Amino acid sequence: MWFWNRKGASGFSASSTAEDVTEGIDGSGLTAIVTGASSGIGAETARVLALRGVHVVMGVRNLEAGREVKEAIVKGNPDAKVDAMDLDLSSMASVKKFAEDFKSLNLPLNLLINNAGIMAIPFMLSKDSIELQFATNHVGHFLLTNLLMETIRKTASASRKEGRIVNVSSRRHQFSYLEGIRFAKLSDPSGYNSLSAYGQSKLANILHANEIARQLKV
Ligand SMILES: NC(=O)c1ccc[n+]([C@@H]2O[C@H](COP(=O)([O-])OP(=O)(O)OC[C@H]3O[C@@H](n4cnc5c(N)ncnc54)[C@H](OP(=O)(O)O)[C@@H]3O)[C@@H](O)[C@H]2O)c1
Repeated sequence: MWFWNRKGASGFSASSTAEDVTEGIDGSGLTAIVTGASSGIGAETARVLALRGVHVVMGVRNLEAGREVKEAIVKGNPDAKVDAMDLDLSSMASVKKFAEDFKSLNLPLNLLINNAGIMAIPFMLSKDSIELQFATNHVGHFLLTNLLMETIRKTASASRKEGRIVNVSSRRHQFSYLEGIRFAKLSDPSGYNSLSAYGQSKLANILHANEIARQLKV
């Protein structure tokens, strides 16, 4: 496709790999949380961060699958520092428990990669009675970010290294409902469209990232 090799301002293109963009970077001494690291983009992100020396904590709802990914990473790189911890982003209780468990490890937190996501599912409610895509893709990550913000700030200040919070969104953020985010109808099954609801949750990821960037600007 025409855009595949077209380089952006970063010097990378859609065909650049995670290894390409981290080439030559020494991540030793850094700690990252990657949500949804049991498959897909999250698993590859965890693998490559570990390859660069970052201590990776994978937040996964399926610990068995998480451990398999961890074993595969360590098999390819015996020096990799990777842990898998239980995290169900569709449940606020689980997000709170994960944040507490992480904080009890007394690790720094340089990178928070909010990656986990579900797409275009039939209408369902989370345990907290929020439409499931919005609950998983946005609310869980919003809460997680808030609960870990102090640790991220303290780490950046003590290490004098800027932290990073990455929300993995999607081009589909442009295809939310006509109103943008249906605040008054978030968990209302009437008029539900699975792709628009996905787009809505991905739009929320972008608005969240924009607001954090605004608040953390120095
Ligand atoms: N692939 C693409 O073309 C594409 C394009 C644009 C944006 N994205 C975005 O990229 C991110 C990763 O997508 P992917 O393609 O790598 O998908 P994927 O292979 O399906 O991975 C999604 C991950 O999220 C996890 N997850 C789902 N619900 C969760 C929950 N309640 N709590 C914790 N983890 C949960 C899944 O865990 P389980 O294994 O337990 O299900 C899985 O590890 C998503 O945010 C997606 O919206 C992907």
